[in-house]
Amino acid sequence: MTINTGAPVVVGVDGSAAALDAVRVAAREAEYRQRPLRVVHAFVWPLTGAPLTPVPGAPVTAGLRNQADQYVAEAVDEARKVSPELRVTGVVVDGAPTPVLVDEAREAALMVLGHRGLGGFAGLLLGSVTVQVSARAQCPVLVVRGEPRADGPVVVGVDGSELSTEAIGFAFEEAARRDAPLVAVHAWLYPTPVGPGDILPLVYDLDVFGGEEERLLVESLAGFAERYPQVTVRHRLVRGSPGRVLVEESKEAQLVVVGAHGRGALGGLLLGSVSHAVLHHAHCPLVIVRRPRTS
Ligand SMILES: Nc1ncnc2c1ncn2[C@@H]1O[C@H](COP(=O)(O)OP(=O)(O)OP(=O)(O)O)[C@@H](O)[C@H]1O
Ligand SMILES: [Mg+2]
Repeated sequence: MTINTGAPVVVGVDGSAAALDAVRVAAREAEYRQRPLRVVHAFVWPLTGAPLTPVPGAPVTAGLRNQADQYVAEAVDEARKVSPELRVTGVVVDGAPTPVLVDEAREAALMVLGHRGLGGFAGLLLGSVTVQVSARAQCPVLVVRGEPRADGPVVVGVDGSELSTEAIGFAFEEAARRDAPLVAVHAWLYPTPVGPGDILPLVYDLDVFGGEEERLLVESLAGFAERYPQVTVRHRLVRGSPGRVLVEESKEAQLVVVGAHGRGALGGLLLGSVSHAVLHHAHCPLVIVRRPRTS
């Protein structure tokens, strides 16, 4: 039986090893979600005089355009190795990687990217395509980084915002399918304002506010535990900077899930500081959640 209908899982490939890692993860995600997998390579017509097609006498596989086709073919093969039943398509789309992938994300259930690509320089933590697409994509983005591991919990960052609730739903779903425990982390430095215009006291009792923060965590998770009784949930209430705490948690995790921005969402900011910290520094794959498509 060939599975998968609806919006695809999209993976961006550029011929790099990191992108092939992303393909393997994307294939498993597509299989689980019963979605087709769409492998995309964005191809920029070069301004140099490099031959696009084989020059006379050169092997038929020469030329940049052929190379682009090969990146896609190799990725499609890799996906089929992971999941032979999967419906996989591969395309080369003309255009710069970021706009092409952001456009693809409008119709995608999930976008999967490697943390690095062919370009960049040694020591670069994250490639520019991944940074830009993570900030702009309309669907959830899974960035594959760190050593793949099947043990360790799925970790989700909780701040009581709408997108953090989306992130919790996403994380429960992942924990259930991976048969992994879920760690729900709420880190706080100062009391959280719960509504617009909330005035916080200048001096506050840590015990009182610790209780409030705990309530926020418990209320945020309400309902999910009943929906996913098979998932073991651990609450972590930590006094510390949320980005730092989540990066620390990622050392033991198999996946970290955060919303694109949280309560502090400044108008115009595409990523909040916590998602930014996790994107750049997590030790394991991570997901930045936005409102997902329902179809
Ligand atoms: N041309 C492309 N088409 C499709 N996906 C791409 C393309 N380039 C990069 N990607 C995706 O983005 C991921 C990260 O690559 P990125 O280009 O951001 O890093 P880099 O090449 O190391 O650095 P940079 O390009 O910023 O110098 C890749 O693993 C791949 O998933
Ligand atoms: Mg690149």
